[in-house]
Amino acid sequence: MSKKNNNENIVSETQIAVHWKEEEYFGPNPKFKEQANLSDPNVLEEYGEKNFPECFNKYADLLTWDKKWDTTLDTSNPPHWKWFVGGKLNASYNCIDRNLAKNKNKTAIHFVPEPENEAITHITYQELYYKVNEFAAVLRDYCGLKKGDTVTLHMPMVPELAITMLACARIGVIHSQVFSGFSGKACADRIVDAKSKYLITSDSYYRAGNLLDHKEKADIACDNAEEKGQHVDKVLIWQRYPGKYSAATPLIEGRDVFVNDILKDYRNAKVDPVSLDANDTLFLMYTSGTTGKPKGAQHSVGGYMSYVTGTSKYIQDIHPEDVYWCMADIGWITGHSYIVYGPLALAASSVIFEGVPTHPDAGRPWRVAEELDVNIFHTSPTAIRALRRVGADEPTKYDYHFKHMTTVGEPIEPNVWRWYYNVVGKKEAVIVDTWWQTETGGFLCSTVPGLHKMKPGSAGPGAPGIYPAILDEDGKLLPKGCGKAGNIVIRNPWPGLMMTVWGDDERFKRQYFDRYCKDPKSTDWHDWPYFAGDGAVEATDGYFRILGRIDDVINVAGHRLGTKELESAGLMVDEVGEAAVVPVADPIKGKIPHIFVSLKPGYKASEELMKKVSDTLASEIGPIAKPGRVWIVPDMPKTRSGKIMRRVLGAIASGQDAGDVTTLANPQIVEEIKKLY
Ligand code: WTA
Repeated sequence: MSKKNNNENIVSETQIAVHWKEEEYFGPNPKFKEQANLSDPNVLEEYGEKNFPECFNKYADLLTWDKKWDTTLDTSNPPHWKWFVGGKLNASYNCIDRNLAKNKNKTAIHFVPEPENEAITHITYQELYYKVNEFAAVLRDYCGLKKGDTVTLHMPMVPELAITMLACARIGVIHSQVFSGFSGKACADRIVDAKSKYLITSDSYYRAGNLLDHKEKADIACDNAEEKGQHVDKVLIWQRYPGKYSAATPLIEGRDVFVNDILKDYRNAKVDPVSLDANDTLFLMYTSGTTGKPKGAQHSVGGYMSYVTGTSKYIQDIHPEDVYWCMADIGWITGHSYIVYGPLALAASSVIFEGVPTHPDAGRPWRVAEELDVNIFHTSPTAIRALRRVGADEPTKYDYHFKHMTTVGEPIEPNVWRWYYNVVGKKEAVIVDTWWQTETGGFLCSTVPGLHKMKPGSAGPGAPGIYPAILDEDGKLLPKGCGKAGNIVIRNPWPGLMMTVWGDDERFKRQYFDRYCKDPKSTDWHDWPYFAGDGAVEATDGYFRILGRIDDVINVAGHRLGTKELESAGLMVDEVGEAAVVPVADPIKGKIPHIFVSLKPGYKASEELMKKVSDTLASEIGPIAKPGRVWIVPDMPKTRSGKIMRRVLGAIASGQDAGDVTTLANPQIVEEIKKLY
């Protein structure tokens, strides 16, 4: 995308910003403060720039290392920063084994199935230890997987997903979990990029009352990967009901096996955790980017684990006695960092919820909270909006008490924030609005809940040890409180940042650093600000308000979808000649995609064709990509150089003024498209 386009987007975001006023402060709550892991303001200073990078040793010290590191930060190969060099550790050991001494009989995972008549299961640390060891033995001895191999996971929200991740981590196998709602084809792209020979999946899972056949996606994924040159040797299938196959799709002989059958040969097997270098890879997490092809954010063992453990302790304020529920999906980074790795490293009890929050009614989450005595709750603005819309009074009917709540994934509107605070939190809970990304491993901006006041709609200052800034297009610093939006950058390295884009160092550098790198030859980190791709404003109090993406990515219900990926799915419909996708504001999901298509000659617009386009997006990418509307247009508005003017389409789809279109090659088309509104 050209600089000019970025500018245009920033300008429109700035206009939004001008309409937003600064909100009043809330808290911090004195009762919360008394028990908080971080409530001494002097500690914050220790994370200031003069103590960087050594300040992050404190995060690393929260883990158990096989060998302590020699160097905190190595900047010799920018921007591939290396943290805790020389250190050795294992993530699975840190999340399980080391908790056995004091907490072996404590629940590690509460699994809440979607059907309410199915029992909640409580997996203790001891049980988790057994299950992870047994499955690690399957991976190592049955599959022959070893350190550095990749496997793709396409699993729903069941405890076996966490078990699979931790078993991989135990033997140094790199896991790449694909969101279960993604289609078989989307999974295939990620298998191909990661070069996985193994796919681990589940036969079925519940979603809004239906037991879905998930195994059929594995067949599509393997066939599609094969076409693209990646052969999948084996598909390991976990059963939703162990011992019973709950999908209609037949097994493929020689390729598909039930985990439950193989496990019988590995009862009580023990697998020593493999001691890994701090800069070995723990996992890949694919995320949408500007050029369409999803990129694999490659996260380290040492830096990542240190960062998620530190932020889970100080921002999520997790204590071992807490019952912590993050209602995200483990298929996204939030689930990796803040359902699995961070909370378990701190010996918390973490809730895994299979279902849809509003099913069978909007009281469900609050019944779960009451039942399990959840005291830390973590979700997204999309879920909050949906729960408010269908059940604004529901929380008052249940006897639960949160001390802490998190919002993540998108900007939260101040009035939605207030409902979350007053009704869901019963004015007892602090809220942290955590801004971060798949690439960043953990939180970047957030208030420290025992120290800072909250401000609705603002993520807050940089997290401890994170130094954000707002830069204009020329890299000039925009001062606090100037009321102008710019690009938010993080001036310094931090341990949670991905090491690179899997298989594409160049793209890593280009996407996140080229924009503001002051000197490509420099090995001084000050010259390499991290470009996050979000527009933001900084208020006089140093709080950052995030305005949204400035690139070709649409944030639907907190999930990043690449517009290019959606457009290429649209182009798979035979009749479609050109496709353009734009984000449109949606009261529940934040943004939803609208797709504009023009048809190849000889075809006519019809309801069926619209449905075909919509269905294709859902089948290619997944149901979350279903467009809010399919517009069949006579032609696309284009610049003289032939570029589709998405800005104009976006304005039309939102019912707004399309602005000056006289410079277009075909300005008359704008009026024709407007008639369709
Ligand atoms: C957006 C999710 C406003 C932002 C953890 C970012 C947010 C993208 C917030 C990353 C927040 C995330 N306020 N916007 N608190 N948190 N975002 O990679 O645009 O799925 O760049 O990571 O979500 O999405 P991702």
